[in-house]
Amino acid sequence: MLNISACVFVLQYFDMGKIKKFVIGNWKMNPIDADSAIEIFSGVRGTAARAKETRTIIAPPFIFLNTLTRMGNDKNISFGAQNCYFEEKGAYTGEISPTMIKGMSADYCIIGHSERRSLGETNDIVNCKVRAALRNGLTVILCIGEAERDAEGVYLGFLETELREGLASVTKKQLPQLLIAYEPIWAIGKSAEKSCAPRDVHEMVILVRKVLKDIFRVNAALEVPVVYGGSVAAQNTEELVREGNVNGLLVGGASLVVANFCKIIEIVDAL
Ligand code: PGA
Repeated sequence: MLNISACVFVLQYFDMGKIKKFVIGNWKMNPIDADSAIEIFSGVRGTAARAKETRTIIAPPFIFLNTLTRMGNDKNISFGAQNCYFEEKGAYTGEISPTMIKGMSADYCIIGHSERRSLGETNDIVNCKVRAALRNGLTVILCIGEAERDAEGVYLGFLETELREGLASVTKKQLPQLLIAYEPIWAIGKSAEKSCAPRDVHEMVILVRKVLKDIFRVNAALEVPVVYGGSVAAQNTEELVREGNVNGLLVGGASLVVANFCKIIEIVDAL
């Protein structure tokens, strides 16, 4: 069983101060047409470009990615895909490869989101996708998260396995191309009652860093940004980032509402 307080002790020696902050907008299967996608992005763009220490990453559906990246490469704004396949090209009907994503000037790829895992994506498949994305020069946003918590802490082992299996054969050199998103499934989406408590988010950040250090055995593993996702809103942004000690947020529903997403970016940047 992993001991969280022992992890705190190990980690307090490392300075995380240099890491930039991230606000990632996961649009999921929204909006319904390209005009609306352009409208949302246009509304967010100015605020995101003005941020001083925060990178905003927009992850729209594949079909809008090219349109949005062509609108321009503002300072501090990047684009990401919500998924990818693990082959570069070939007879894979309906799939999109990391090479194609990179070719659309997107630099990030969300992999292993719980909504994809619920469609049958296993840790092995996630790992194939992670390695293919890294090989193609994408930065991977690897999502992990438990469906429920238990008093015995079984979920801690579950999260460790998601990390270890998802990152199998990833090299130390590839660490700068990695972000981890802790997204407890029970806190995601409209059906969730609330976000994870900031204190619990902090514990999971410590767990993630401890496991990364164990896997890679270099201090660079401690610099991998860890973000939180699950019912993020302007109202809980400050406490989640400040008390949760995360390097940023992965925002679903609120990333589609321009005023809310802009507020989240501003709050994160000001912290
Ligand atoms: P939510 O989604 O912010 O709507 O809870 C987060 C996510 O699934 O990435």
